[in-house]
Amino acid sequence: MSAVARVSSLLIPISPITLQHKISEVGDLFLLDSYNQLLSLPIVDNGRAVGVISRYELMKIFLQRYGRELYGNQSIGQIMNTKPLIVESSQTMQSASEYITEHIHFPIMEDFIITDKGEYKGIGVVLHLLKAMERQLAKHSGELAKAYKRLQESQAQLVQSEKMASLGQMVAGVAHEINTPLGYVRNNVEMTQQLFTQAQELVSVYDTLVTTLYSEEESDEVQLQAQLNDIAERSAVFKEEDSFAEMQDLFKDTLYGVEQISELVLNLKNFSRLDQAKVDNISLNDCFESTLVIAKNTIKHKVKVIKQYGDIPKIPCSPSQINQVFLNLLTNAAQAMPTQGNVLLKTYADEKCVYAVVQDDGSGIPKEVLPKIFDPFFTTKPIGEGTGLGLSISYKIIQQHGGQIKVASQQGKGTRFLISLPIAPKKAAPPPAQGKPNE
Ligand SMILES: Nc1ncnc2c1ncn2[C@@H]1O[C@H](COP(=O)(O)OP(=O)(O)O)[C@@H](O)[C@H]1O
Ligand SMILES: [Mg+2]
Repeated sequence: MSAVARVSSLLIPISPITLQHKISEVGDLFLLDSYNQLLSLPIVDNGRAVGVISRYELMKIFLQRYGRELYGNQSIGQIMNTKPLIVESSQTMQSASEYITEHIHFPIMEDFIITDKGEYKGIGVVLHLLKAMERQLAKHSGELAKAYKRLQESQAQLVQSEKMASLGQMVAGVAHEINTPLGYVRNNVEMTQQLFTQAQELVSVYDTLVTTLYSEEESDEVQLQAQLNDIAERSAVFKEEDSFAEMQDLFKDTLYGVEQISELVLNLKNFSRLDQAKVDNISLNDCFESTLVIAKNTIKHKVKVIKQYGDIPKIPCSPSQINQVFLNLLTNAAQAMPTQGNVLLKTYADEKCVYAVVQDDGSGIPKEVLPKIFDPFFTTKPIGEGTGLGLSISYKIIQQHGGQIKVASQQGKGTRFLISLPIAPKKAAPPPAQGKPNE
């Protein structure tokens, strides 16, 4: 930071006039080259500034008929302004200009006096002071622009970290969702293994019997009977338990579980492409569905989801970004419910736009809060639960898609978010990569 500019830098050290000066003498002084640029002259007595006389005041006298003759011999003290503007040389430009602009008369007819600990040092020109202030302001606005840029950069970082946070949330959710099918796939495989062992044993006793029957030696009736009994018993158990049918069921279940797992993985893959902001033709109904898969774990105990999907056209958009918006809205809806509630997911279209509604019957948003909810960092939630970025990011994403996001809410009744996206967005503004604030 540069040193603060002081009044001393404006000092013009002119020798002052005294109370003994006569009006006509002062008139002559104003004509001198050295005083040429000045509007007024300081009057100093014993080192103290006692007044100031302006060119204008003198002119008023001299322009009177016989003015010079009538008043020229009088002391300047008689007509001087006894309340000159005085500033200390150590004062900052800022405080001096505040003082002067507050006390100066218009039009400006006087300069100001500069003192050092009360002692006269010289004078300063008001215009110089104003110029200096102007320069300072210009510099400040440069700094302001820089600060704004830094702020923008840090916002981009925060957007990134909110993205990471929601990714983290999703990953946790998906991991949980995968765990359930994984659990029973494992269980099924273990059970199949047991059944398989039984079958293997059965096959091996058959094998022994066949070997015995084919053997050249005289077969032992008793041994044969024992083997037949063993087979009959094992087969009976197998039949009774309907083991082959059970195995079929187990296989079916297992396949279903594996399919569920691959679906989740696919969804996660779609979702995690947040950075790529790939543009695709997609139906908002599908976006709602894949968001639900991801959000299921967070909302399932709280929220009953009601779907009213319309027959809507696909639109070009970045599904991962729209998914993130839906996830933010769904999470907010769930968080707005003290215990349990309903969320309506609705889509419809007209000839220009497709619309998506996320409506909850949660706590609602108080009137005084409503105008702030899209502001970055605005949150009413405790630390750790809310970052206050969800809606501001959602707003930006929808804006970048050429759409609109609107909210209506009634405290105690619920909240409704309405998103509209153009069916054919303007070619000029494809959605840029997320995380780069564009203004
Ligand atoms: N569905 C909703 N019901 C009630 N309040 C909401 C809802 N959605 C958003 N809000 C309010 O808007 C604020 C900002 O939301 P958001 O930007 O997502 O940040 P966060 O959820 O991290 O607080 C929330 O703190 C909450 O007060
Ligand atoms: Mg939120």
